[in-house]
Amino acid sequence: MKRTAILYSFNSQKTARAAKMVQEEFGGNLEEVNVEEITLNKFHDYENFILGVPTWFDGELPNYWDEFIPELEEADLKGKTFALYGAGDQKGYPENFVDAMGILAELLEKRGGKIIGFVPNEGYEFESSKALRGNYFCGLPLDFENQARMVKPSINRWVEQLKREFD
Ligand SMILES: Cc1cc2nc3c(=O)[nH]c(=O)nc-3n(C[C@H](O)[C@H](O)[C@H](O)COP(=O)(O)O)c2cc1C
Repeated sequence: MKRTAILYSFNSQKTARAAKMVQEEFGGNLEEVNVEEITLNKFHDYENFILGVPTWFDGELPNYWDEFIPELEEADLKGKTFALYGAGDQKGYPENFVDAMGILAELLEKRGGKIIGFVPNEGYEFESSKALRGNYFCGLPLDFENQARMVKPSINRWVEQLKREFD
């Protein structure tokens, strides 16, 4: 597997907890990068990425992504591969469950990025989600509020999948 960055906010709560679990499953081989400090130069050091994003504001990305998103919207992402996980709350926000993951995936694909790590929607109960593609999410939804006990096992399964799917 190529050099891989895990990109998330170091100031987030559940997203950061999940990042530590993902890192552990990868045997500590990921480079942790703070989305609040990343520059496009640093971003281009990597070809493989794991991105962690919670959904806030009824279906939006948290505002600490605001600085980097415009840069991504202009970036050439051909040759880069992305796996996404999203923290969300399917009971509290059933109409926007993990929307931010879908918003991000769409943007990355538009710029030429490849998305891997799709997960079947079985076992989740919600009304709508921008992260849904048919019967699959475009990444791993993590619901610490309602399915805390599923978090660790689903991360472990997902990481095994990523090890097969990343180049
Ligand atoms: C004000 C507010 C708005 C939220 N909006 C959504 C939402 O639209 N969709 C969703 O799935 N979760 C939503 N959530 C739930 C968070 O995404 C969830 O608690 C997540 O685990 C937070 O991760 P963090 O601790 O890394 O920020 C919202 C939470 C808050 C407090």
